[in-house]
Amino acid sequence: MRRCRLIYKSIAYPEILEPEAIGELTTLASERNKESGITGILLLSGDSFLQALEGPVRFVNQLFIKIANDKRHHDIELVTYEDINATCFHDWSMRLVDLAQIQDEKRELLLQKYPHSGDAISYPNDKMLLFSLLIDAKNVLLAS
Ligand SMILES: Cc1cc2nc3c(=O)[nH]c(=O)nc-3n(C[C@H](O)[C@H](O)[C@H](O)COP(=O)(O)O)c2cc1C
Repeated sequence: MRRCRLIYKSIAYPEILEPEAIGELTTLASERNKESGITGILLLSGDSFLQALEGPVRFVNQLFIKIANDKRHHDIELVTYEDINATCFHDWSMRLVDLAQIQDEKRELLLQKYPHSGDAISYPNDKMLLFSLLIDAKNVLLAS
């Protein structure tokens, strides 16, 4: 079965950033993704989302069409789309990492490595660095 990894970024409308709303979105996303063999991570930095979706090409494509039409965010921008042999988020059907919640020395490390405006981490334009941020966010969550 052909598998792919799709990464996009978008800007959230304020309503979806309410803790209950974002919690519900992530829980539902995780349940749905499990059913279709999709794994991934959803980063939040201020009002900006960055999401990686991995899984069977057909399901990832169908899901991205839904997400791109979801009225809870805007300025959706596809960043990368590639075939994969192995997944990076194989045990996560979907997990949210709010970069603003990362504290202390882990925050310092992220600020040293990635572009930021004030204390808020910005998503790098460089695709390798962007991917590295997704993996660092995963590792920070695993370590916490
Ligand atoms: C930022 C963002 C990320 C989302 N991620 C997922 C996801 O990983 N999986 C998922 O099933 N839905 C996700 N959704 C929700 C979908 O857009 C859609 O509402 C959901 O799949 C239900 O669609 P349906 O009821 O038409 O089947 C996300 C929505 C937003 C705004």
